[in-house]
Amino acid sequence: MEELILRKGVPEDIDDMVLLEQQCFAVPWSRDSLLYELAENPLALYVVAELSGHVVGYVGVWSIVDEGHITNVAVSPDFRRRHIGMALIDTMLKVTTEAGIRSHTLEVRVSNMPAIGLYKTFGFTEAGLRTGYYEDNGEDAMIMWRR
Ligand SMILES: CC(C)(COP(=O)(O)OP(=O)(O)OC[C@H]1O[C@@H](n2cnc3c(N)ncnc32)[C@H](O)[C@@H]1OP(=O)(O)O)[C@@H](O)C(=O)NCCC(=O)NCCS
Repeated sequence: MEELILRKGVPEDIDDMVLLEQQCFAVPWSRDSLLYELAENPLALYVVAELSGHVVGYVGVWSIVDEGHITNVAVSPDFRRRHIGMALIDTMLKVTTEAGIRSHTLEVRVSNMPAIGLYKTFGFTEAGLRTGYYEDNGEDAMIMWRR
C-alpha cells in the first residue's frame, strides 16, 4: 500500500471531500458548506488522509473554548478497516489537545456500530441520547464524550 499522509485539509481538497461526503453519508454536506469549513470557519480544523494523491478520509472538529466538537468522520468505502479512521482520530486528538482542547464530543446514529466502535477505541463513552435527531429517518443520536 502507498504511504498514508495525514495533514491539514485545505480548500484544494474540496473535490475529493465532496465525493467522500456523498459516498459516506445519507445526508451529505453541500460543497459550499464544506468549502466554508476548509476556507473560512475560524473554529474548524479538518485532518485529511491522503493516499496516492487523493483524500480518502477526513475528520473535522470545531474548537469551542476548551471543547472539541467533532463534525464528521469519513473514510472511503474502498479503504475501510485499514485503521485510517483510527489514524485520523488519533492525529486530530493530538493536535487539538496540544492546542488546549481538554475534552471532545460528538453525535452518532445509534445504529452506526462501525463509528461507535471506532470512538470507543479512543475512550469516548455514551453520555445521552437526542431523540429523533436525524431528519431523514427520525433516528436517535447518541451523544459521546471523551474527557
Ligand atoms: C466509521 C468509519 C469512519 C470507520 O473508518 P475505518 O477507517 O474503516 O475504521 P478503522 O479501520 O480505523 O477501525 C478502527 C476500529 O473501529 C471499529 N470498527 C471500524 N469499522 C467497524 C465495523 N464495520 N464494525 C465493527 N467495528 C468497526 C473496530 O474496533 C476497528 O478496529 P479493528 O479493525 O482493529 O477491529 C467508516 O466506517 C465510515 O466512513 N463510515 C461512514 C461514515 C460514518 O458513519 N461516519 C461517522 C459519522 S458519526
